[in-house]
Amino acid sequence: MRIDIITCLPKLLESPFSHSILQRAQDKGIVEVVVHDLRGYAVNKKKQLDDYAYGGGAGMVMMIEPIDNCISTLKAERDYDEVIYMTPDGETLNQQIANELSLKGNIMILCGHYKGVDERVRERFITREISIGDYVLSGGELGAAVLSDAIIRLIPGVLSDETSALTDSFQDNLLAPPVYTRPAEYKGMTVPEVLLSGHEKKIEEWRFKQSLARTKKRRPDLLDD
Ligand code: ADE
Repeated sequence: MRIDIITCLPKLLESPFSHSILQRAQDKGIVEVVVHDLRGYAVNKKKQLDDYAYGGGAGMVMMIEPIDNCISTLKAERDYDEVIYMTPDGETLNQQIANELSLKGNIMILCGHYKGVDERVRERFITREISIGDYVLSGGELGAAVLSDAIIRLIPGVLSDETSALTDSFQDNLLAPPVYTRPAEYKGMTVPEVLLSGHEKKIEEWRFKQSLARTKKRRPDLLDD
């Protein structure tokens, strides 16, 4: 899979892709993440990327021309399955969307800033708009990093124990059960007996019951569907 991220703040995206699972996925050649500095596609001498909003009002709007230049350049090089715009008014990211996108080949992600992008960008180029939650960030970069992480860890071969993505919270509309590691007793706190029993079937049953109880208590909405 290849993920191209278009941003006016490329440095913001350096760290999230340079550690742990996301770095390893790139080292293994399973995913290629390419960050594009929108400023390199600016059209005037000032390297301007934003301008005042027609009709007035506070806040700048990202101009269509640099974005068109960047997206069109990338599209001339390869086909894209989705061109995603990160925005608080998009569909809210969930595990199902991450699952769907993890099956794609090439994805482009555009990060917005200021008051957002000229509406014509959305009409002409964007195939999907995604929000990472009902709050407003300073820009789309952190959202793009969150989205990419959620997608990349689902691609087969990225996690060393492939089943571990399948047992994540939300995969069956259930939250994950509690987990424990050594020591078996710590300051009087013990680990549930069943987990020490070695009895696989009982352990599986216990985990399922815990998942169900935790979901009922914390996220009953997940059980509605
Ligand atoms: N840009 C600003 N706020 C955002 C959000 N909540 N999700 C995605 N992109 C954003």
